[in-house]
Amino acid sequence: MNEAFFDKKEYLPLDRVDGRLKVTGAAKYSAEYVLPDMTYGVLVGSRIAKGTIKSIDSKAAERAPGVLAVISHTNRIKVPGYEPSADASTGAPSANQSLRVFYDNKVYSNDQPVVIVVATSLEKAHYGASLVEIQYDQEKHKTDFEANTDGAVLPVAAKKNPKSPTADYDRGQTDAFQSAPYKIEAEYVLPTEMHNPMELQAITAHWEADDRLTIYDKVQGTKSTQKTFAKEWNIPEQNVKVIATFVGGAFGNGLHSWPHESAAIIAAKQVKRPVKLMLTREQMFTMVGYRPRTWQKVQMGATKDGKLVAINHHSIGQTSSYEEFTESTLQQTRMMYASPNVSTRYRLLPLNVATPIWMRGPGEATGAFALESAMDEMAHAIEMDPIDFRLMNYTETDPDKNIPWSTKFLRECYEEGKERIGWKNRKLKPGSVRDGEWLVGYGMGTGTFGANRSSATVHAELDINGNLVMHCAITDIGPGTATAMVQVASNTTGIAPEKITFHLGSSEFPNAGLQGGSSTVNSVGPAVQAACNALKEQLITLSASKNGSDFSAAKPDDVMFEKGEIRLSGKSSGTLSDFFKQNKIQKIETTQESKPSENGKKYSMNAFSMHFAMVHVHPYTGQVRVKKIVCCADAGTIVSPKTAESQMIGGATGGIGMALTEDAVMDHRFGRYVTKDFGDYHVPVHADVPDIEVYFVNKPDLLADPVGSKGLGEIAIIGVAPAIANAVFNATGKRVRTLPITPDKLI
Ligand code: MOS
Repeated sequence: MNEAFFDKKEYLPLDRVDGRLKVTGAAKYSAEYVLPDMTYGVLVGSRIAKGTIKSIDSKAAERAPGVLAVISHTNRIKVPGYEPSADASTGAPSANQSLRVFYDNKVYSNDQPVVIVVATSLEKAHYGASLVEIQYDQEKHKTDFEANTDGAVLPVAAKKNPKSPTADYDRGQTDAFQSAPYKIEAEYVLPTEMHNPMELQAITAHWEADDRLTIYDKVQGTKSTQKTFAKEWNIPEQNVKVIATFVGGAFGNGLHSWPHESAAIIAAKQVKRPVKLMLTREQMFTMVGYRPRTWQKVQMGATKDGKLVAINHHSIGQTSSYEEFTESTLQQTRMMYASPNVSTRYRLLPLNVATPIWMRGPGEATGAFALESAMDEMAHAIEMDPIDFRLMNYTETDPDKNIPWSTKFLRECYEEGKERIGWKNRKLKPGSVRDGEWLVGYGMGTGTFGANRSSATVHAELDINGNLVMHCAITDIGPGTATAMVQVASNTTGIAPEKITFHLGSSEFPNAGLQGGSSTVNSVGPAVQAACNALKEQLITLSASKNGSDFSAAKPDDVMFEKGEIRLSGKSSGTLSDFFKQNKIQKIETTQESKPSENGKKYSMNAFSMHFAMVHVHPYTGQVRVKKIVCCADAGTIVSPKTAESQMIGGATGGIGMALTEDAVMDHRFGRYVTKDFGDYHVPVHADVPDIEVYFVNKPDLLADPVGSKGLGEIAIIGVAPAIANAVFNATGKRVRTLPITPDKLI
């Protein structure tokens, strides 16, 4: 073990603690649990996008071999949480009513699950599902965003509260744009994008008693899911056990509970056996959320020497007809640059589609495409280097909230990234650099996301053999949470990582919020730290009472454990095993909660990123090849350098998808996606992804939280798509404002 590991200030790269379990197949995912009497559920989706179900003929399915039940709104058992209807007068759900599966005969979107067939094998369930005949009364649906933008509305939350984040926002003069010396005005469109994690959404539902439910579920929050289903079944929370030990990627689609989960739970109760249900890849496009299609318009005004005068930013994002999904598309426009005059308008367009949900960099990734493209357009209009233009409008305090940043090291990101990408080779005039027959371009995009911290509780125990074992309900969707928490614990205690275990992903463990919004390390990390310090305090108290003196004035920070030794202010003070023997105990344990401080009111806490792209564009075929990406992040302390770097590379890869390949295409005659597998919906593959370099400023933000972390997951993707779009413009002089930038848009 490297001695530097015990230097409290340094976090060194560590292999994933669960890597071996994952690559050997030993890690168990939601659909891999085997229970006695297991049955299998298959969902049947509606073939219309709007209307009512006239009849369901399930006779053939019920007679098919192995079929145990065919369940729909016509015969489902009572679900206590379904009653009463959100809107008793019409029976229709009101805004923010999640879809209640099998609630009634109404259809709100194509492929809405309307029937579940349960059988003794997956094959038999599939066959049974193929035999179900459904008749509909079809109504005229609206799925075409562009054809229906007139229907965009202010979100209900904003109507109720003018201070809501989605309410209309004006800072300074609202007419400043009109009189600005230089003006640009442009519209940007981001298509619907799908999360497409590797693991399909899956649940195994098991009623262990009439009022006790266990689910093995692919979710990003075990406690939030526990609450949802305890409420849906009107049973105590502790009667619902949610297990999500391993999650094979999610990107946001596990942040909400979905109809397939309720369907499996209803079915399990109805057939009185465990039900396993895994969505098909096609159903992943229709049943578990997506990044909503969004139109944006930016009006930007500046002076010739590069001072921003005004930014007006309007956005319309789609949502379902029954539930308002809002996201923070416009928030960064209010705080990223020092424009005295800023107006934002946020609207929702309800369509006959399923509800969208947060998708990596939710809101900000969408908003940054427009804002950072517009910044590039303006820099071009005033013939200024895009970095100089940003530095000219750099903000030293939050111009929206009018309070200081807790920390902001974005300048360092600009400087470092500029060097690494070779920005000096960029020419101001587009289309002026070539490499052989390829046009060469450089672009950049900035990202930011709030350092959102929530409460978290960790149980920790240290035993006579020097093993530290911790438990917490937090999930890990892939970034390496257990690895990061082992590093925080090792850093706090000096105990070698291989002697530390962090158990997560169960609602039975102490409370934690969602793994979402880049909030895990800065929420759970401090609880790990607090638990480790509490263990040290116990040791100090016990040692002081036994052999007095040295320990009586000691603080947790003075004590470290090293190779089984207790070190007090750096000096050996006996072994851990002797300590336990002296006190006649086998272990010490503690449960500690860590909560956000009041600093959030005094400081604006945000992580920042800066992405640079170098692209080649073929002048005849329009093919774009991303040759290099440099991602620079000010995310506070990086507690797990190796997994953090991987996380940044993953985010940049998602950004390449946003910029160049991803587009969920719908056939509006049917309101149905035509892209519904990896053959048609293109996520970047290995050949699309170049060398991605990652740089972390790695300066702690101790105002944000005691670990000093500001979060990483979102800023990894926010700003990447505009960096690529801006590089394409620099290469070709063609500005593509509707993503993805496919070759047809360049030739
Ligand atoms: Mo995310 S959209 O914070 O999983």
